[in-house]
Amino acid sequence: MKAINSSCILKAQQVVEEARKKVEHTPYRLGYHIMAPAHWINDPNGLIQWNGEYHVFYQHHPYSPKGGPIHWGHVKSKDLVRWEHLPIALAPGEEYDKSGCFSGSAVDNNGTLTLIYTGHISLNEETDEFREVQCIATSEDGIHFTKHPQNPVITEPPAGGSWHFRDPKVWKHSETWYMVLGNQMDGLGNVLLYESADLVNWEYSGILVKSDGKLGYMLECPDFIELNGKHVLLSSPQGIQPEGDLYQNLYQTGYLVGEFDYETKQFTHGEFEELDKGFDFYAVQSFEDEKGRRIVIGWMNMWESQMPEQEHGWAGALTIPRELQLHDDGKLLMKPVVELKSLRENNISVQTMIVSENVRLDEVKGDQLEIIAKFSLANTSAEKFGLKVRCSENGKEHTIVSYDVKEQKVIVDRSQSGRGEGGIRKGKIEMLHHDVITLQLFIDRSSLELFVNEGELVMTNRIYPDPASLGVELFTEGGSVKLIELEAWTLKDIWV
Ligand code: FRU
Repeated sequence: MKAINSSCILKAQQVVEEARKKVEHTPYRLGYHIMAPAHWINDPNGLIQWNGEYHVFYQHHPYSPKGGPIHWGHVKSKDLVRWEHLPIALAPGEEYDKSGCFSGSAVDNNGTLTLIYTGHISLNEETDEFREVQCIATSEDGIHFTKHPQNPVITEPPAGGSWHFRDPKVWKHSETWYMVLGNQMDGLGNVLLYESADLVNWEYSGILVKSDGKLGYMLECPDFIELNGKHVLLSSPQGIQPEGDLYQNLYQTGYLVGEFDYETKQFTHGEFEELDKGFDFYAVQSFEDEKGRRIVIGWMNMWESQMPEQEHGWAGALTIPRELQLHDDGKLLMKPVVELKSLRENNISVQTMIVSENVRLDEVKGDQLEIIAKFSLANTSAEKFGLKVRCSENGKEHTIVSYDVKEQKVIVDRSQSGRGEGGIRKGKIEMLHHDVITLQLFIDRSSLELFVNEGELVMTNRIYPDPASLGVELFTEGGSVKLIELEAWTLKDIWV
């Protein structure tokens, strides 16, 4: 076994530690989300509960708040809520990963924590010519990793596949390891399937999913899971064209639900569905925890985003952990994990009222808040109603979360949110709960995650308001609506 070039890790670690002091207490720094100690973060990687503790790795550039040669950052937690930074787990340095340790996953192989990742080798930066190969690294203590001497364990794409060949997600089924990989063939996105007895020797078993053009030109970060007796492929396609309110971001994240036959390796599935309809959700990854829950975390940004926090020496964050459930109608629901309730402080309840004009809720205030508001749709005369959050004193700055009664759509409007690119995203509601609409908001200093009707619709967004914009308002347009109840809490800061 070859020890990871520990000097690469130590050097990177020192740079991040130095930068960390500068990013603390800057205005957009989040209070209860996973971020790198400083500098750049993108996809969540290697999600696993190992020896009872939750580990999250992430794509990390330790030398600057912009992308660059990617390392794997690392945090762990006992409760999925309070995270502790650990040393960088993987640094590029070998011939096969010299330009970056790209996204991948983690498994427990008889007690050995094993990371499976993509080695990225840039051949020509100007023409963007590169190679991508699959590699493994192991650890006995869950902190220090050793790259395998037989790396790369998959050296090239199958015949016809391009070098867009990345993001291995590995799982075990009846004593065999399986891997899904994102790939491109003939200009279209594909998910490839591999099998192995030992994680080192891999055999190609064919194409699991092929884009027919509608699924774009590349499927990044595939993740294949069993849920409720069905099989679900999560993935992040590039190149899907916008269609009405759908597929508005540069790239998408979504899923296919179907049946998979391990004998024939055939996956028959329905149509692609977006998993989150906000501005900032990408490269989601899942894992099953010891309680049998399927938990997902996404990157809470998008490659096209402005990321104003870069001027404060950091960029990017991961979403709060969400429990994934498959509803009987074939839709995936995402709900905040229950452990997040342990962040709650200072409960405020607003009793039933008819809202017919803007109502500033004086007691509900802050930049780290959870709000659950239930509105009745019976006898509503309003055309639109909802909440304005992160409102400035004069009300000019705000982020709107509203429900359009006629269109049956929930809308997140960031056009007056402060810095950043603004814009509107909409999501249709099919009303799992008939006459009541429940809006659950997780607000952090530069983010807003919205869960509608127990996870039927989720919209994840970065916002960059003035730190002094802390107000919350109820509002309606064109009539009145009944607020059944509103509960709010301030949320603790896990990083202080
Ligand atoms: C997704 C992605 C992955 C790749 C990684 C590189 O955001 O492009 O496909 O492995 O980021 O950081």
